[in-house]
Amino acid sequence: MAFPAGFGWGAATAAYQVEGGWNADGKGPSVWDTFTHQGGERVFKNQTGDVACGSYTLWEEDLKCIKQLGLTHYRFSLSWSRLLPDGTTGFINQKGIDYYNKIIDDLLANGVIPIVTLYYFDLPQALEDQGGWLSEAIIESFNKYAQFCFSTFGDRVKQWITINDPNVLALLAYDVGVFPPGVPHFGTGGYQAAHNLIKAHARSWHSYDSLFRKEQKGMVSIAFFSGWVEPADPNSVADQEAAKRAIAFQLDFFAKPIFIDGDYPEVVKSQVASMSKKQGYPSSRLPEFTEEEKRMIKGTADFFAVQYYTTRLVKYQENKKGELSFLQDVEIELFPDPSWKNIDWVYVVPWGIRKLLKYIVDTYNNPVIYITENGFPQSDPTTLDDAQRWEYFRQTFQELFKAIEVDKVNLKVYCAWALLDSFEWNQGYSSRFGLFHVDFEDPDRPRVPYTSAKEYAKIICNNGLKENL
Ligand code: BGC
Repeated sequence: MAFPAGFGWGAATAAYQVEGGWNADGKGPSVWDTFTHQGGERVFKNQTGDVACGSYTLWEEDLKCIKQLGLTHYRFSLSWSRLLPDGTTGFINQKGIDYYNKIIDDLLANGVIPIVTLYYFDLPQALEDQGGWLSEAIIESFNKYAQFCFSTFGDRVKQWITINDPNVLALLAYDVGVFPPGVPHFGTGGYQAAHNLIKAHARSWHSYDSLFRKEQKGMVSIAFFSGWVEPADPNSVADQEAAKRAIAFQLDFFAKPIFIDGDYPEVVKSQVASMSKKQGYPSSRLPEFTEEEKRMIKGTADFFAVQYYTTRLVKYQENKKGELSFLQDVEIELFPDPSWKNIDWVYVVPWGIRKLLKYIVDTYNNPVIYITENGFPQSDPTTLDDAQRWEYFRQTFQELFKAIEVDKVNLKVYCAWALLDSFEWNQGYSSRFGLFHVDFEDPDRPRVPYTSAKEYAKIICNNGLKENL
């Protein structure tokens, strides 16, 4: 199973999950600093990312891991408040620039292509204090930050992701409120945040397009989290429709405006409108884009970036009580097949990734696709021999090979999540997604490869699997 020549093999991390140095050298607080410092058991054992993997001072250790794997691509994110402590270009933190310059330069010197995410959940607290993603003012703040990053790093960075998992962020931070700022706005906040996230992405893509592209010749996209869903009863029309709604609310909600026509999917618009009506709202809880905004949003991504972890079965679940929440708006129930193995929320369903890729090909006109994340957790504590977890990766690569060979998917890059065990948001350090084990008790935070890292290095070295289809 030889992958196409030049296929990109990467691994990913995110600033807050690995860096630590939460207030080092002039960094401003992000919402995750505030949230974790407030305690309240919203994060496992009230753990924080204050130190995390220590990558702010231990970057060179990370580089060793990257070289050991033989990665062609490394995806990491910039901490907005490390660069711009209050979120604005009113004050620029040179130490932050120096840190990321070193990462970028070291990667390039070692032949590794950086894929840089501008924003990965860690909004500067100063901007959250002004309403965060619920406020339209964030669109211009994000655009200015993006322009600052393009102009500072774009001579060397050619592959940009503006926003990571906007769908996860909108839902968890502003609808159910389990992510900072931690305040639920069931059925309303998620849509409002999503609306602003889409516009902020589009605005920054236009900035790149008009101000930087000619000289820098890079690409800009946005990374969507998407699981796959299968109708629980494949013969039930209600379940088939439920599966379509699940994908529409999760993926197409963001991808259709950006890749197709500047507007939300019809099924999302009609579903939220009818729920809102039943609940006595004078208009839909889903905001509308103006015609001018639709024109601004349409066509604002240079490749399709998607992050797949797992799959669920889905069936129709009527929102009988008229409950107010994003999830109730979809009118579905999601659940795993009892035969699927899992750790936490990740069920091992490698074929789901192939189906998802095929869906993207068919729905979005066969775009160039990057898998910007894919991985499987281990519960803490764990051993270095994760042979069982490697099965998840190995089977995933088989499915990717079929996707490329049989389905003709234009897949160019695969990034494993994650390079290192790291701060896993609400689960703190209890869930380990790394290819390298990190000892969070040891002040030196040693990185040690799991079996999966060694096996992944072989795949990269062979540009595929040494087996036949
Ligand atoms: C998030 C990562 C997270 C991973 C595993 C992804 O959707 O972007 O930050 O670590 O899921 O939960």
